[in-house]
Amino acid sequence: MSKIVLYYSLLGHNRAIAEKIAEREKCEIKEFAPGNLLRVFQISIRKKKLAKKAIKLNTEIEYHDDLIICGPIWARKPAPAMQKLLENLNLEGKNVSCNFTYTQDYGDTENIVRTLIQEKSGVVKEISFHIVSESRENSRV
Ligand SMILES: Cc1cc2nc3c(=O)[nH]c(=O)nc-3n(C[C@H](O)[C@H](O)[C@H](O)COP(=O)(O)O)c2cc1C
Repeated sequence: MSKIVLYYSLLGHNRAIAEKIAEREKCEIKEFAPGNLLRVFQISIRKKKLAKKAIKLNTEIEYHDDLIICGPIWARKPAPAMQKLLENLNLEGKNVSCNFTYTQDYGDTENIVRTLIQEKSGVVKEISFHIVSESRENSRV
């Protein structure tokens, strides 16, 4: 089974988690839409760009059976970049694991993401949540 880790990270927690997983699984790793603080505030105009970038990633995941996706919770939901990623990737027949980081509240993310993956004919392998503190140094992950 060929695996690939895809991640989106603004503050670095998900980068660290994704790198650890890729090292453990000895598999490929790919960052989706590198973020910076400015981009958070531009997110609405960036949504079309994010969707295009996500669609492009389909060629990268074509030959991978297992997708391991890491990213943050924003506004009690997957961050917009994560939503665009899940909405635009071709998940048909893929085993999908999602790792989300949050600081307080991840709302109904588990159900939202499970439904989204299943609607796209993907197989939900795991959806997990990791609490982090806003400062990398204090991260409990
Ligand atoms: C715009 C924004 C909205 C956020 N909303 C939430 C939230 O609703 N619930 C929560 O627990 N954490 C929230 N957070 C905290 C993020 O989940 C946390 O910064 C993230 O998991 C860290 O991952 P990263 O270092 O990979 O960016 C928010 C962060 C940002 C920047």
